[in-house]
Amino acid sequence: MSNIFNTYNQYPIDIVAGHDWHLTDKNGQTYLDFTSGIGVCNFGYSNEQITDNVFEQATKIWHTSNLYQSQLTEDVAGLLAGPYKLAFFCNSGTEANEAAMKFARKTTGRSKMVTFHNSFHGRTYGAMSLTGNGAIKVGYAPLVPDVTFGDYNSNSALSLIDDQTAGVILEVVQGEGGVINGKPDWLTKVQTACHQAGALLIIDEVQTGIGRTGKKFAYQHYNLNPDVVTVAKGIGNGLPLGAMLGKKKFAATFGPGSQGTTFGGNKLSLAAAKGVLQQLTPSFLAMVDEKAASVWNYLNETIDTLPAVESISGLGLMIGVHLSPVVDVNDVITQLQAKGLLTLSAKYNTLRLLPPLVMTEHDLKKGLDMITDVLESAVTTTA
Ligand SMILES: Cc1ncc(COP(=O)(O)O)c(C=O)c1O
Repeated sequence: MSNIFNTYNQYPIDIVAGHDWHLTDKNGQTYLDFTSGIGVCNFGYSNEQITDNVFEQATKIWHTSNLYQSQLTEDVAGLLAGPYKLAFFCNSGTEANEAAMKFARKTTGRSKMVTFHNSFHGRTYGAMSLTGNGAIKVGYAPLVPDVTFGDYNSNSALSLIDDQTAGVILEVVQGEGGVINGKPDWLTKVQTACHQAGALLIIDEVQTGIGRTGKKFAYQHYNLNPDVVTVAKGIGNGLPLGAMLGKKKFAATFGPGSQGTTFGGNKLSLAAAKGVLQQLTPSFLAMVDEKAASVWNYLNETIDTLPAVESISGLGLMIGVHLSPVVDVNDVITQLQAKGLLTLSAKYNTLRLLPPLVMTEHDLKKGLDMITDVLESAVTTTA
């Protein structure tokens, strides 16, 4: 009998150790990891610089309140937000999106939020209300009012952005929603509509950010210039950290007392984040691009040709393999686990792959070979 709520429908695998991109369970079984702890441990499980930073910080001090200035916080904010934005630190993606919603409403003095079907922004009331997935909202009404949903990638959604709109929130690639790529021209049109309406463009980079797509932020692929960016997951490489980044010209919105959280910007998490950001260099990102190019070659030439596969989407090392309805993604995941590969699912029978960005091409190929084997036999079995 378990002592925890069954909110996750967990696999019977108790992971007790990790090294680089390998995980070991309590029975000594090892796995190649194509999950990164759901897009979190982008630098793997034993990155020296991150580990050293956290250990060193742990011997000094773990927590002070946000009532005191901190050079570490300033350093991480500078590395993360760049010269034109300021950071507000919190603990998770949902909190970063809560902050963004509050920021948009307070900055504009308007209340309407525009978001998109199929999106995922988190589980707290504001972020859940912005989320375009009905299943996660069942039983929780009433939600936060004045949230309007448009169709992702559809021009009809642009007319929803009007002079009542405080903010528009979107993922450049919808992650939980099935790894759906935003169309570059549509993303630009959303930005233009925001500018015309005086609404803030909020880009949720919780899953796409911190190098996952080969850029620090996925919006950089399309030269977008969002007013607000939200980050979490990969920024702490496994320690809890989130951030809302907002343009400096809106600094007055978040003045003293307007937003806060006790643990936001915890020193251990920030020490990890500093290690992450110091290594997220142009040459590191170029390496991610190179690996992604060979992964996409394999995906296009081999996996996309399998009868079990309908299509493949994604960007960089954020990949969605859309399976034919005759193959159940959960069966595929279980079979891959038995072979020693951990993978994820997303909406619409999608096999989602988020390998650590530091994984070698050799091991990326090894994982893809296992996926090919399982998908080949999946259709033979059902035929
Ligand atoms: C795009 C996106 N936004 C927000 C969240 C919520 O983040 P968290 O689980 O840290 O609250 C997630 C989590 O999967 C996400 O993928």
